[in-house]
Amino acid sequence: MGPWASDLGTEVAVTLWQARLSEGPARELLEFTQSLSFDQKLARYDIMASRAHLKGLQKAGLVARQEALLIESSLDKVEEELMDRTFSFEVSDEDIHTAIERRVTELAGPSGAKIHTARSRNDQVVTALRLYLRYELMEICANIIEVQEALAQKAIEAADNYMPGYTHLQRAQPVLVAHHLFAHGWAFARDIDRIFDCLSRLDSSPLGAGALAGTSLAIDPSFVADELGFSKVFQNSMDAVSDRDFALETLFVLATIGIHLSRIGEEIVNWSSQEFGFVSLADSFSTGSSMLPHKKNPDIAELARGKSGRLIGNLTGLMATCKGLPLAYNRDLQEDKEPLFDSIEQAKLALKAFAPMIATMTLHYDKMRESADNQFSAAIDLAEWLVERGTPFRRAHEIVAKCVAKALSDGTTLAEQVTKNVELGPEAAKLLGKGVAVRRRTSLGGAGPAPVSIQADQFANRIEEDCSKLSRLANRFAKLLDRS
Ligand code: ARG
Repeated sequence: MGPWASDLGTEVAVTLWQARLSEGPARELLEFTQSLSFDQKLARYDIMASRAHLKGLQKAGLVARQEALLIESSLDKVEEELMDRTFSFEVSDEDIHTAIERRVTELAGPSGAKIHTARSRNDQVVTALRLYLRYELMEICANIIEVQEALAQKAIEAADNYMPGYTHLQRAQPVLVAHHLFAHGWAFARDIDRIFDCLSRLDSSPLGAGALAGTSLAIDPSFVADELGFSKVFQNSMDAVSDRDFALETLFVLATIGIHLSRIGEEIVNWSSQEFGFVSLADSFSTGSSMLPHKKNPDIAELARGKSGRLIGNLTGLMATCKGLPLAYNRDLQEDKEPLFDSIEQAKLALKAFAPMIATMTLHYDKMRESADNQFSAAIDLAEWLVERGTPFRRAHEIVAKCVAKALSDGTTLAEQVTKNVELGPEAAKLLGKGVAVRRRTSLGGAGPAPVSIQADQFANRIEEDCSKLSRLANRFAKLLDRS
């Protein structure tokens, strides 16, 4: 917690940029422009980048070995103070970067004042933000995999049980329960693709771009990039400090994850209602009502649905912030942090709640089967039966539709109509038997037992591939966390 949580008092602030100005900053200016109240999440990454920058300065001969050692140990101390919350912030600390530099300079004296050589907060802040997102996105990827594993576990348990598949929320065709659950699983697989994609765009170091134009000093941005585990380095200093595409992309990925959670959430809300009765949530993942003693509510599912709006808002808000900005850095860009931090935190919370909620829910297969064994759910099978015997599809559709209409108007069953129909007859009527239709969904990627068992293997392989991809990345970057 910085000094911004409380009243600023009457203390006169001395900022790092004070020398240029004849008067100290107004209290209102500091209150309005500070980001310390929310950017402390970047502390660890600022220090990581400062250590790499320091090595770069030493390599360039801009900081002597003794000085570097002193600054290094001051950075260690600052890190310690921040970790154990003994760091004391000052009113002049407008952001975490300023606070760290101020304290390093206090601890290391005149040598400390060299840490900001050939660096601007403009390249510093965007470096820290890229590093922060790198680690957070990897964690989110792991959280998604946990949800996928819960879905896969439920799908395997569901075996050959089936349920109605819907279009327009009207019963359309029976599908295996597993097929429905895997459908959500594949959507998350694409979110993981997008995270890896995002990580590759994050993998470029902006450090060394300076305020906007680079520097006259002999630094080597590629060396620093390498120290920070970035495989690429910026090509244009102005682009490096003003680019927030990576932030927008991240917000898009998080909003899409939110949408995917929201869609499952909506189904869980429906399915757990008395009207559907397809699922019961574990008591520990349900809430009660403060007034109605009998209620058991699916609040996690609803709140995920609600929070997806917030994640979309964070994306559109930052897009609007970025759209009219001239090159290069503008203070508007400070507005990138709160939406990013918020979307990251909310996505993590939702994913972490969803995995065990899904893992502990009970599916009521009897109820699902009962709804799926609707006499009309095999109507398409009747039409396809005719097609197999040479009837053009459009004509087959018409024959079956007429049987359906007749059954409804006469108050008879479809089976009766089909049995007495000359083109269909008793052989075709067998298709209306319980559970017959779903077994006939044999085509690639279809909803029947044969393709779903192939899909189950593909899904398990996909999870395995993503896990190893993620652990390769985690190993590559964890080394850096240890080194820092
Ligand atoms: N807190 C600022 C931000 O988040 C740091 C950069 C400030 N740069 C500047 N030229 N005032 O963007």
